[in-house]
Amino acid sequence: MLKEDILTCLRQGGYVSGEQLARRFAVSRNAVWKAVMHLRKEGYAIDSVTNRGYCLTAAPDILQIAELQSCLGAQAGLYEIFVYDRIDSTNREAMERAAAGAAAGTVILADTQTAGRGRLGRSFYSPPGTGIYMSVILRPDLPLSQLPLITACAGTAVAAAVDRLYGTDTGIKWVNDLYLGGKKFCGILSQASIDMERGTPEAVIIGIGINAAKGAFPDEIAEIAVSLEEAAGKRVRRAQLIGEILKNCADMEAQIRSRSFLAAYKRRSVLLGKEITVHAPDGIYTAVATDIDENAALLVTTADGSVKRVDSGEVSVRIFKGVEQNGEK
Ligand code: BTN
Repeated sequence: MLKEDILTCLRQGGYVSGEQLARRFAVSRNAVWKAVMHLRKEGYAIDSVTNRGYCLTAAPDILQIAELQSCLGAQAGLYEIFVYDRIDSTNREAMERAAAGAAAGTVILADTQTAGRGRLGRSFYSPPGTGIYMSVILRPDLPLSQLPLITACAGTAVAAAVDRLYGTDTGIKWVNDLYLGGKKFCGILSQASIDMERGTPEAVIIGIGINAAKGAFPDEIAEIAVSLEEAAGKRVRRAQLIGEILKNCADMEAQIRSRSFLAAYKRRSVLLGKEITVHAPDGIYTAVATDIDENAALLVTTADGSVKRVDSGEVSVRIFKGVEQNGEK
């Protein structure tokens, strides 16, 4: 569509003349002008200067497929995106679509969730207009033992996108929580349907929840949660961040096979070297987090010197001392 093509072009920055745009898209200058007027009506601030042309100076924070595709640029073809104003849970919707045969690269986004799901049966607070609630369907050809790597890889992808856009230094609390300034701003919930015969996942859903814009949190999480805008001190445009995250997720299966993301994941860890409490189904114990192994399990050393391998399944960990807290919602 002309409007989206022009937007993609203007996103590259600087002024582009109406004549150049008209030639490039084989339309009249009047058609270009009309498309620019449409974009302005949608909230895009487009400057126009005689003899220089048009320049995009600000874009609205709306979740629209065209806007998202334009942020994805050359990688737009890798994803099929569905946007809901309101949904119970994007993970639930993605699981259903995956069961019905939806392809890898299907993305479900919502402006608000009425029953957002968190880890360990918790809920995820998902108010309208301020968050990113996104589920991505993958169909990786990986053994089940490597599934925890998907969450870790997704966490690294989100952290890298955030840091690139806002100049932050995002920490990751094993296995799925993203932190800035000691508070959680993002959680990831991966769910899978399994092919029992092959012992491989049929589909994996990566559910990413980000507190993007400033807003009040309910009392029970106000102390431990933060919005990205507040933590980074920068304006967050959701479509831009989503685009950046999806770009980083594009070659996720290859990253998992080669473990190329693992060093960055470990470097971001807020647990390694710290004394933590492990809440496992068979009890609670204190240990020092010493390493993360090649399948993203956490290795801890207990007081008697024995090393335990902690799988993510039913476990949550808390930093025993220090400023960081659990931050689970
Ligand atoms: C956690 O912190 O426990 C994980 C939270 C994951 C929340 C996201 S929001 C998008 C997707 N849909 C859901 O219902 N949950 C995930």
